[in-house]
Amino acid sequence: MTRIPWWRHAVVYEVYVRSFADSDGDGEGDLQGIRSRLGHLRDLGVDALWLTPFYTSPLADGGYDVADYRDVDPRFGTLHDFDALVADAHAHGLRLIIDIVPNHSSDRHPWFREALAAPPGSPARSRYIFRPGRPGERPGEIQPPNDWPSAFGGPAWTRVDDGEWYLHLYAREQPDFNWRNPEVRSEFEEILRFWLDRGVDGFRIDVAAGLVKDESLRDLNGRDSRALNGPVYSRPEVHDVYRGWRRILDEYDGDRMAIGEVWTDGPEDLALYLRPDELHQVFQFDLQLAPWSAAAFREVIDAALKAVAPTGTAPTWVLSSHDSIRHVTRYERPESVPGIGHARARAALLLLLALPGSAYLYQGEELGLPEVTDLPDEARQDPIFERTNGELAGRDGCRVPLPWSGDTEPYGFSPGGVRPWLPMPARWAPMTAQAQASDPSSMLTWYRDALALRRRLLDDLPEDIDWLDSPGTALCFRRGPLICALNCGENPVRLPPGTPLLTSTPLYGDLLPGNSAAWLTPS
Ligand code: NOJ
Repeated sequence: MTRIPWWRHAVVYEVYVRSFADSDGDGEGDLQGIRSRLGHLRDLGVDALWLTPFYTSPLADGGYDVADYRDVDPRFGTLHDFDALVADAHAHGLRLIIDIVPNHSSDRHPWFREALAAPPGSPARSRYIFRPGRPGERPGEIQPPNDWPSAFGGPAWTRVDDGEWYLHLYAREQPDFNWRNPEVRSEFEEILRFWLDRGVDGFRIDVAAGLVKDESLRDLNGRDSRALNGPVYSRPEVHDVYRGWRRILDEYDGDRMAIGEVWTDGPEDLALYLRPDELHQVFQFDLQLAPWSAAAFREVIDAALKAVAPTGTAPTWVLSSHDSIRHVTRYERPESVPGIGHARARAALLLLLALPGSAYLYQGEELGLPEVTDLPDEARQDPIFERTNGELAGRDGCRVPLPWSGDTEPYGFSPGGVRPWLPMPARWAPMTAQAQASDPSSMLTWYRDALALRRRLLDDLPEDIDWLDSPGTALCFRRGPLICALNCGENPVRLPPGTPLLTSTPLYGDLLPGNSAAWLTPS
């Protein structure tokens, strides 16, 4: 029998480190806090944790601006804490994936400081992407070197004192590395080894498609920057980087893996990253982007399965992350129907967990947390808010710290009465992990039950699905001994013959109510 690597069907839980659990009372989560809550993750029934960046960082973009890739930021702990977390996670039967941020560093990284102090054309500058500006239309006017926009608003270039400009696809505090410089490449290979030697089971690669830019840095001229082989993302040269990384991962025992954060024009382009000598997984975000519609879900599922089929690897599914509006809130339409977002989120979980491949959950979805939409402007920290002059709210609303226990802020997130780094809503008392743990009707119990059942069934589930007939507002598929039915409409639909295993709302006989899902064994 072929041995199946752990990640292929894993349920991975994303820990947004700053907002998970605060052990030392500074209002921000930390590694010791995560250690203290590993029991929650074991009881939830996930297989692995993915930690967002905890490296030394000024946190201009929540830690995706790294100043030292080989150390832990003091606000999150120490390397010693990290080692203890790896050991404890493994002792709890949990694997640990960490985020690696290779597209850009912080502007406080010693290499960037050195580059700023060095003259144009110097070796220190060639680790980043510095270029002269170009003349504008008005006399004496200087424009950025090309027309690329920053993903956070405004141009992707900032001018330094001597007149050169540096590229940053994200905030100005996140200068892009020049991956055509071999020094950058070998530095990151050593960084991977540093963390692999400390026992991590894998990496989530930030901006994985963006590392190598077109050499001429040609203009986009209005084209989508994500287009395959365009000047910005998904250049053919990036694949060679991952071939090198794969060789390193393969040198280690224990199925060490890498998953890329790759955004492409269409799912078929993802397959390029999944060639057998490249990455093990890439995120497939289309389920997260799809509206609440059986037809849309079905289309996305078909395309995702088709995209990965030739690669021999398995798909990945995700509904929420630290970059998107929480799905309870996305599904809360129309807002006049109270609880519709929660009902749909319960149903969506059965879809997510019934599909072949692995699922990535985002912290707090197991508590049914909604997006916090009423944060005061002065509390907002996401650079998107500032760079768009407040036009876009940014991603703070999904990053509010987790409520663990108690009736008032900080709900057990921090010890004592400390104020968390983002304010927590007054209405969260019924949503704490403690309040939900012993409530059989809670979202937490629902997640635990669904994950436990998936785990029990997993060995018998094949890697393909067969669609079964269903009305247009619903979808229904069979995966070996499991049938999954999801009704996105308002009216009940008839279920196929079978014995219910788990249902997100009570059935009416063999009718599945609207905004619900069920798992059945076929009869
Ligand atoms: C993707 C990360 O998930 C996001 O949080 C970050 O802002 C950008 N990459 C830039 O690093």
